Amino acid sequence: MEVKKIFLPESELPRQWYNILADMPTPMEPPLHPGTGQPVGPEDLAPIFPMNLIEQEVSTERFIDIPEEILKIYTIWRPTPLYRAYNLERYLKTPAKIYFKNEGVSPAGSHKPNTAVAQAYYNKVAGTKRITTETGAGQWGSALSMACAFLGLECKVYMVKISFNQKPYRRLMMETWGANCVASPSTETKAGQSILAKNPDSPGSLGIAISEAVEAAVTGKDSKYSLGSVLNHVMLHQTVNGLECQKQLAIAGDYPDVIIGCCGGGSNFAGCAFPFARDKIHGKNIDIIAVEPLSCPTMTRGPFAYDFGDTVQMTPLMPMHTLGHSFVPAPIHAGGLRYHGMAPTISQLILDGVVRPEAVPQLETFQAGITFARTEGFISAPETNHAIAMLIREAIKAREEGKEKVILMNWSGHGLVDMAAYEAYLRGKLSDHALPEEEIHRALNDIAKLPKPKQYRAGKI
Ligand SMILES: Cc1ncc(COP(=O)(O)O)c(C=O)c1O
Repeated sequence: MEVKKIFLPESELPRQWYNILADMPTPMEPPLHPGTGQPVGPEDLAPIFPMNLIEQEVSTERFIDIPEEILKIYTIWRPTPLYRAYNLERYLKTPAKIYFKNEGVSPAGSHKPNTAVAQAYYNKVAGTKRITTETGAGQWGSALSMACAFLGLECKVYMVKISFNQKPYRRLMMETWGANCVASPSTETKAGQSILAKNPDSPGSLGIAISEAVEAAVTGKDSKYSLGSVLNHVMLHQTVNGLECQKQLAIAGDYPDVIIGCCGGGSNFAGCAFPFARDKIHGKNIDIIAVEPLSCPTMTRGPFAYDFGDTVQMTPLMPMHTLGHSFVPAPIHAGGLRYHGMAPTISQLILDGVVRPEAVPQLETFQAGITFARTEGFISAPETNHAIAMLIREAIKAREEGKEKVILMNWSGHGLVDMAAYEAYLRGKLSDHALPEEEIHRALNDIAKLPKPKQYRAGKI
């Protein structure tokens, strides 16, 4: 009988995370203080993050031990199964072997708890009592709410307004886990008030919600801020996924020729791909594809430049692919991919030719999600559908080339709380969003005066 899924016993759960900073082909350029233009030091970040996570953020140790308490919580859903997509292979008549890693089996329904639990743990150890954060589609907010419930911390979530209205069930999940969730922009912070004064109907964006959450952490008692993507320590925590995949593929006797993941800030992609990217840096031939929406083309069209992580310019400047911190993406249903920037590690790996970015339009992603649901059964998050769209393109390419490639895709989450988006698609109400060039130029004007990284690259506009 065909082996459909490869499980690992709990005893095989990785005991360490993998840190790509130890293997970067080109050293990373540092984050800068926006006032001085100098590299930020740990003390600059201390009002926002606990010191133990700041240490992880800058660490270049190749492997970092996962504390026992985190491992215990991970066992609720980890190791996650690796599936072979036989039905999709047959449907596409492709000679490719398609594997997908199911990160949707976590209680929150995505990969996000891998770092949420770690961040809540390190905050707890450092004495934090309350964590603030932003959330787009609500996956991250619900993951952090659950993690805070496990660790006994208060959790405050600023949820992008358009998603807050589209996804009431995510908000209720957060409340069930004990968090407090408000729509962003809110009237609770100066950042939210300033946006609402300019545009009372603002649909919000991740950049705005980050500004609110950072402000709430800096001004709140015993409060720290937590980010669900982009930063080095978030990518680090997610690598437990790719390390499991390496063991699972070894059991299957395969090794990937192609790895695919969707990218908002990059964390699920990094988690799956970075342990293999290490192999590529040391000589393996793998096509590692990071997929983003055509309407928010950070990696494929944005320059590699210094920019703020948030809209109201409170964070340090990070060297990354960006569309400009004032860019507000079209209201596509993949709320978690509506972010103006990209993880500095992924941005650097794109410059170094280790990662290949691609962009796909919204309608193709939903069509892909439907094909996946009708063959493999699982209903995917709209974000994940971006990876599936690229997977289908690659599987068809393998058929046309007559090549038996091994393709690994990260299935970042289920879409069971996103059925309103599927309804809009199935009723013919969704469209592709053309991105006017003027909008990119306008938002990039706002970063023209910022310092430029040594490896500055103009965008493809
Ligand atoms: C299911 C799912 N996939 C992907 C993403 C994108 O985030 P990241 O690029 O950090 O994995 C999100 C973010 O909300 C998500 O919920």
